[in-house]
Amino acid sequence: MPRKLFVTTALPYANAAFHVGHMMEYIQADIWVRYQRMRGNEVHFVCADDAHGAPIMIAAEKAGKTPQEFVAEIAAGRQQYLDGFHIGFDNWHSTDGPENHELAQDIYRALRKQGLIAERTIAQFFDPVKNMFLPDRYIKGECPRCGAKDQYGDSCEVCGAVYAPTELKNPYSALSGATPVMKSSAHHFFELSSQRCLDYLKEWTHAPGRLQPEVLNKIREWFATDEHGHGGLADWDISRDAPYFGIRIPDTDDKYFYVWLDAPVGYLASLKNYFGKKNLDFDAFMADPQVEQIHFIGKDITYFHTLFWPAMLHFSGRKTPNHVFVHGFITVSGEKMSKSRGTGISPLKYLELGMNAEWLRYYIAAKLNAKVEDVDFNPDDFVARVNSDLVGKYINIASRAAGFLSKRFDGRLSGDVGVEGNVVLEHLRAARPNLEELYEEREFGKAVREVMLLADRVNEYVDQHKPWDLAKQEGQEAALHDVCTVCIEAFRLLTLYLVLPALSRQVEAFLRIEPMTFDDASRPLGAHTIGQYQHLMQRVDPKLLDALFEPPAAAKVSPGGEDIAPEIAIGDFAKVDLRIAKIVDAETVEGSDKLLRLTLDIGEGPDPQGRPRLRNVFSGIRSAYQPADLIGKFTVMVANLAPRKMKFGISEGMVLAASHADEKAEPGLYVLEPWPGATPGMRVR
Ligand code: MSP
Ligand code: ZN
Repeated sequence: MPRKLFVTTALPYANAAFHVGHMMEYIQADIWVRYQRMRGNEVHFVCADDAHGAPIMIAAEKAGKTPQEFVAEIAAGRQQYLDGFHIGFDNWHSTDGPENHELAQDIYRALRKQGLIAERTIAQFFDPVKNMFLPDRYIKGECPRCGAKDQYGDSCEVCGAVYAPTELKNPYSALSGATPVMKSSAHHFFELSSQRCLDYLKEWTHAPGRLQPEVLNKIREWFATDEHGHGGLADWDISRDAPYFGIRIPDTDDKYFYVWLDAPVGYLASLKNYFGKKNLDFDAFMADPQVEQIHFIGKDITYFHTLFWPAMLHFSGRKTPNHVFVHGFITVSGEKMSKSRGTGISPLKYLELGMNAEWLRYYIAAKLNAKVEDVDFNPDDFVARVNSDLVGKYINIASRAAGFLSKRFDGRLSGDVGVEGNVVLEHLRAARPNLEELYEEREFGKAVREVMLLADRVNEYVDQHKPWDLAKQEGQEAALHDVCTVCIEAFRLLTLYLVLPALSRQVEAFLRIEPMTFDDASRPLGAHTIGQYQHLMQRVDPKLLDALFEPPAAAKVSPGGEDIAPEIAIGDFAKVDLRIAKIVDAETVEGSDKLLRLTLDIGEGPDPQGRPRLRNVFSGIRSAYQPADLIGKFTVMVANLAPRKMKFGISEGMVLAASHADEKAEPGLYVLEPWPGATPGMRVR
């Protein structure tokens, strides 16, 4: 009986293009899915964009788009990656689709009916300028432990302290720079700490073979309480107040599900959407006890998938996952990926350089196992494995034999390869059950090593029989025919065992055979006629890896001879108060050939005498401007810079001017001037 499998990968946030970490996850899952299909199992493999949440809402606003427009643009960019790396999803959907709204609300209602939803009022930071509650990531301030400035609301990057956002000193909103105020609101909680949930989750997580042992260990830590009964699972705050990009909580008009509530429901929504297109019965499928539900995820989202998600499903009366397969992270040359910049390798650039997707698939397969271990992409290792193993050992087998077969035997294989040839092929066929088990267990690295050992065995056989010599000797036609046939038959088996999608298709075309399944391992081709050999795969030119790692052109050319400064948060920028200033007076400064003294009006005042308050600013622009050039003009100044005492008096701010980093190499200094219409005191933001 074929198995019925429902397989997913984590739903990527719809706020950025894919990075190599996503591709690694898709490749891992895709290999497993392909293997299952090649075993004749029924697999439904789906994914979707994770569209909701505060970060996406804020990013969309920054981009001047609605969240829907914003995520649609990201979604439109997905297919080129999936096609490029031959990821065989049956469907790609969105958590903002109608199926997800309906399913998430249904699940919530069922949980509420079960008495597992509690309403509690909590106080939270609120941004009075943006009129919204601030998620922890958007509250910054001084670390309560070490005093470091500009730390996030959850932890300090300087001393490592972990705290609640309310403990921050001088907190400010990273969105507006405003000082947040405390405000109460009713939140909905999923009672994960209830005895019912605890009992169920203990049972679910401990089911034999369901989870990897390391994952189970981690879960045991999460369950653990100290001698005072502290720790353990806490109730889960599943609601967020408007404005929020998400799914409305039933029977409320201003509350939404926290993104992590509706995100995993997106797995079901994508399957439902797919079944809708295919006219299949979603409810019947999900009610079928034969169906196995399997999620591939990275280690950072284990808690959501092994605690929240099974509890949500079980208590809403649904099927729970049979397995959650957790993988480690991909690092590049030993370095962790930065969240914002990804790694040195961009999957799209990889494709644009014309690099073969199968190289990466092979390399990642060679590095993967069933553990939650990180995987390192190392360029030298990549070149070595692809060139010496994949091309050198495996592809070579076909290229060594194909020419003789087409030139001397019209592409026809010999029906019987003799005793010695059969020994080699039997050895390859006998490897099948072990390889099947390795794929099933996600021990892809072991599977690849095993296949390469088999390739070694075939190459030894070729080296012993030297077809290139046989071809020159008279009366050795039959021997040559047998050796070449063994090569082709072996090549077919090795291709089947490698589970490389595009290569398999090319090989099937070359051999003129149907799409391969694992059962084909025990069905010899016999006296079959194959096609013309076309080169199947190039070696990697190591120069390609240099090109892959080159920073993108935009970052390489440093504008104005100066590198772009390290990234800052919007809140960092908001702290600089820039104002339109009118230059009411300008004069040279005695004793300085660099400075001009400017008197600026930024709409402040009146002072105690009822006069407008004017700022005195010394500015190093004498080399470029005469005082008369400036008087009456408008410019931009930093209005909240600490006053600075200089030899000539106090400078109360700074005027903005553009220049090249090396003023000697590129002379020139240009004071900024606003477009007509701006008036003194307007804030520049
Ligand atoms: N949107 C959530 C998942 C919701 S699932 C219901 C999310 N998105 S993500 O885009 O940040 O990550 C998507 C997947 O990529 C996760 O499984 C995550 O672990 C994985 N990876 C993110 N960085 C990775 C690496 N550096 N290496 C391998 N996988 C990585 O989390
Ligand atoms: Zn600190």
